[in-house]
Amino acid sequence: MLKKIKDIVKVAGEIILNAHHIKDGIESKEGRANFVTSYDVEVQNFLYQELKKVLPEAAFIGEEDKKRENVIGDYCFIIDPIDGTTNFIFDYRHSAISVGLAFHGQIIMGVVYNPFLNEMFYAEKGKGAFLNGRKLNVSGLMISEGIVAIGTCPYHRELTDETFRITRKLYDTALDIRRTGSAALDICYVAANRFALYFELILSPWDYAGASIILTEAGGCIGTMEKKELPYRLPCSVIAASPRAYEEFYQLL
Ligand code: IPD
Repeated sequence: MLKKIKDIVKVAGEIILNAHHIKDGIESKEGRANFVTSYDVEVQNFLYQELKKVLPEAAFIGEEDKKRENVIGDYCFIIDPIDGTTNFIFDYRHSAISVGLAFHGQIIMGVVYNPFLNEMFYAEKGKGAFLNGRKLNVSGLMISEGIVAIGTCPYHRELTDETFRITRKLYDTALDIRRTGSAALDICYVAANRFALYFELILSPWDYAGASIILTEAGGCIGTMEKKELPYRLPCSVIAASPRAYEEFYQLL
């Protein structure tokens, strides 16, 4: 089934690569700088239609949905058709399609694909995580030995001060800071040892679901600010890190 999901996501990537006149089809959503393009909707519809053929009994939760199906039921796909929509609108070329498959509320498969770099991250529970066929193993990077990525909660400006308070502490410890604009890729980049740690004070399940299993299967850690497991049904804070950086983060706060 993972192979079928990867194949579908790869084809969906073509929709993103062939996009044109993106700015003509933009609508605003709730919060500041929160947009949806006609391509977000097109990619999501394509994924629904094709993934339904692979697993007809599955429920769906997608970022661009009005309705929310049940993630606790048997199978549920949790989908972000374009994670990094603002990057996509401004041709920043760092966005991803993210698909997580939950079974009884736990993620069992994840696929995150950046069509601009043709990089596909994927994992299945108990079978490891991979980037384009190469196995991913999280190393023991400490915060002081790596780059840290932050998420700025752009749709929740009430969290700005706290975000930058924590960022200041991380910046003083880490080699440097990045803000990439795609949470799914940030988490996968921790799995690939490109980042020692990534944090954001609020994310929705479609931002983190697919990537979370890629990170844990690679040997990394992911949880909330309260060091709890991710809920997958609800928005929450997300800390993703190598095991050493993860422990360090909570001491640093
Ligand atoms: C957003 C991106 C961004 C993060 C936001 C997310 P979207 O997803 O992942 O990096 O900071 O919190 O909502 O809206 O582009 O799918």
